[in-house]
Amino acid sequence: MSFIVAIDGPAGTGKGTMAERLAKKYNLVNIDTGATYRCVTLEMLNKHIGLDDEEAIAEMLKNIKIEMVNEDGKQKFLLNGKDVTTEIRSKEVSGNVSPVSSIKQIRVAMAGLQRKMAQGKDVIMEGRDICTVIFPTADVKIYLDADAEERAKRRFKQNQEKGIEMSYEEVLASIKARDKNDMEKEIGALKIAPGATVIDSTNMTIDQVEKAISKIIDKRKKEIKKEKKIYWERPETPWKKGVRATIKAILHAFYKIVFRLEKVDEENLPMDEPVIICANHLNYWDATGLVVCSKRVIRFIGKEDLFNHAFLNWIAHVFNVIPIKRGQRDLEAMKRCLKALKNGEAIGLFPEGTRKGLEKGAKVQNGAAYMALKAKVKVVPVGIQGTFKPFTKVRLVYGKPLDFSKYDAKNPEKDNLEQATKEIMDNIIMLTKKEK
Ligand code: DC
Repeated sequence: MSFIVAIDGPAGTGKGTMAERLAKKYNLVNIDTGATYRCVTLEMLNKHIGLDDEEAIAEMLKNIKIEMVNEDGKQKFLLNGKDVTTEIRSKEVSGNVSPVSSIKQIRVAMAGLQRKMAQGKDVIMEGRDICTVIFPTADVKIYLDADAEERAKRRFKQNQEKGIEMSYEEVLASIKARDKNDMEKEIGALKIAPGATVIDSTNMTIDQVEKAISKIIDKRKKEIKKEKKIYWERPETPWKKGVRATIKAILHAFYKIVFRLEKVDEENLPMDEPVIICANHLNYWDATGLVVCSKRVIRFIGKEDLFNHAFLNWIAHVFNVIPIKRGQRDLEAMKRCLKALKNGEAIGLFPEGTRKGLEKGAKVQNGAAYMALKAKVKVVPVGIQGTFKPFTKVRLVYGKPLDFSKYDAKNPEKDNLEQATKEIMDNIIMLTKKEK
C-alpha cells in the first residue's frame, strides 16, 4: 500500500516549496500536478490550438508525452522529450493555464496521467483537486491557504529568482484571476475536501508550515503502523490451530466450573453453513464464553481498542477476531465479515453494540441484518441468561436460525434492515427469558 500526501490550495500558497521539502524529509516522490496542465498549455500555445477546438485538443492529447524526472532532488518536466521546466513558468503559460485546465477532456486526461505517475509509489502530490478528485482517500489531506497579497509577494520573489519578468501588480492580478477561475471550474474546482486540514500560511514562516504538516504526517504514519498491527491477519497454521484448541479447552472447563455454564439447544447452530450468531451483551465474559464453549469456531467482532493491549491483541489474533472501529461506519470491518461469511465461517456479534445496550436504551445496530441480507446467510439468535458471578448459573440458549430470504437481498432497504433487526432482537429477548 502506497502512502499518499495530497495538498490542495490556490496559487502561491507555498504548496510547491512544501512538497519539495516534505518529499525529501519523508522520502516521497514529489508530483507537481499544476506542471502537467502547464505542459499541455505550452503544447497548445506551440501548436496554436484554440480553447474550444475540441477535435484538435483530442488529437493533441492522444500524442502528447509528459514525463516527470527527478534529477538531483529537483523535479524536471519533459514535454515530448524536451526539458520545459523553466518554459512552463513563463508569463504566457501562466496567463493561459487556468482556462486550459478548465477543459473537461484535458482534466480527464491529466487525472489519468497523475494517478499513473503516482502508481505504486509513496508520493506527495500538490494541485487543486488532489484531495477532492485524484486521491480522495489520501492518507494526509491538506488545504493550504493564504491571502492573495501575501501569495503575490511570494510568487513575485520566486519569479525574480527564476528570471521570469513580471511586475508585482501583474502577479497579483494573475493570481486573483486564477483563483476565480480555479474555484469556479465546472469540474475539478478548487475547494476544501472533506477530512482535509486547512492551514492558513499568511502569517506563518515556511518552517512553521512544514512543522504543522509534518505533525499531521507523523500522526498518520503512527496510526497506519497501529492499524497494520491490528489488521494483520495471522495465517491459519497448525500451531495457531493447536494453541486455539488448547486455550478453548482450558477456558471451556473454566466456564463450566466457575460459571456452571450450560448450553441449551445448541443443535440449532448449523455446523456446515455460514451463519451470524447474535446474542445479548451482558459483560466482558459473554463473548469469550460463546466462543470457547461453542462446538463451532466463531469469529467474534471486537472493538479495535482490544488490539491495543499486547496480550489481548495476541488472543484476538489467535481467535481471528474481526476488529471494528466504534462510532462510525467501518467499511473495512464489514468487508472482512462478508469475506468470512463467503468463506463459510461463523461470525458472532452483539447487535446492542454495547454492554447491556437494551437496558441503557442504546440504538440497536443493524449491521447483522445488513450482512445477513447481503451475504444471504441465516442469523442464529442466542439468549445469554445469568450474571457471570462465580458459581451462579449461566445458560446459552440457542434459537432456531432466522431466514431473511423474504427480504430483497440485493438492495437492503432501510425498512427491511429495521424489520430484520427487530426480528433478531425479539428472538434474543425471548431466548433470554426462556425457561427449561
Ligand atoms: O500550481 P500551478 O500554478 O502550477 O497550477 C497551474 C494551473 O493549473 C492553475 O491555474 C490551476 C491548474 N491546476 C488544476 O486545475 N488542477 C491541479 N491539480 C493543478 C493545477
